[in-house]
Amino acid sequence: MNDSQRAHLTRHGGRFIVEVPTGELDTSIADDAHVDWAEVFGREADLVVEIGSGAGDSLVPMAAGRPASNVVAFEVFERAVASTVGRLAREEVDNVRIVMADGAQGLRQLFDDGQVSELWTFFADPWHKARHHKRRLVSREFGDVVAAKLRPGGLWRLATDWEDYALWMREQLDDHPRLENVHGGWAPRLAERPVTKYEARGLAAGRTVFDLTYRRR
Ligand SMILES: C[S@@+](CC[C@H](N)C(=O)[O-])C[C@H]1O[C@@H](n2cnc3c(N)ncnc32)[C@H](O)[C@@H]1O
Repeated sequence: MNDSQRAHLTRHGGRFIVEVPTGELDTSIADDAHVDWAEVFGREADLVVEIGSGAGDSLVPMAAGRPASNVVAFEVFERAVASTVGRLAREEVDNVRIVMADGAQGLRQLFDDGQVSELWTFFADPWHKARHHKRRLVSREFGDVVAAKLRPGGLWRLATDWEDYALWMREQLDDHPRLENVHGGWAPRLAERPVTKYEARGLAAGRTVFDLTYRRR
């Protein structure tokens, strides 16, 4: 971390970062961990979750555009979290809290069934090699968790600049019994999603960006 990132964490970490009891690994969550989100945010509101928020390039503007929602972001990379909290403070965006832990586990353990109104997974790590596919965030099993945690009608918005991962997402999710591909195929680019570093890099390399939206049946 550079000095300014360290300073952001020291000054603003307490306001935006939610500490949860950890499990065996630093980034895993203890089996009995629980968070009362209404208490954390100081209000009852629609809950939006982002997994892998990076430096907050989508998170901060998208949360700012939805002041009536409570937005919970999971990110394991400390430097990225430091940049995010700095930006949240600078832009006075108050409806975001960050958990520095594995978001797949966090979604499963820290939310009640039907509690989440929207999930965002943008530019998740693609893990190209076949032997690494089991590390991909999006899978049929993760689809089961998402379907359980979304409220009926709740949305899962995804984007990737890797065609093989995009096709994999469709393969894993299109025929999921509790999720409906809202557009019956690729979704139009989500207007509120800004172009992040990862998207710009993909486009500069000549790749296409694929958006998908699934609705909990
Ligand atoms: C390729 S980056 C994309 C960041 C951001 N969504 C964007 O579009 O700018 C993927 C991010 O996901 C984070 N990440 C990967 N797996 C995660 C997990 N299971 N839980 C939380 N964060 C995760 C990584 O640390 C990394 O910052």
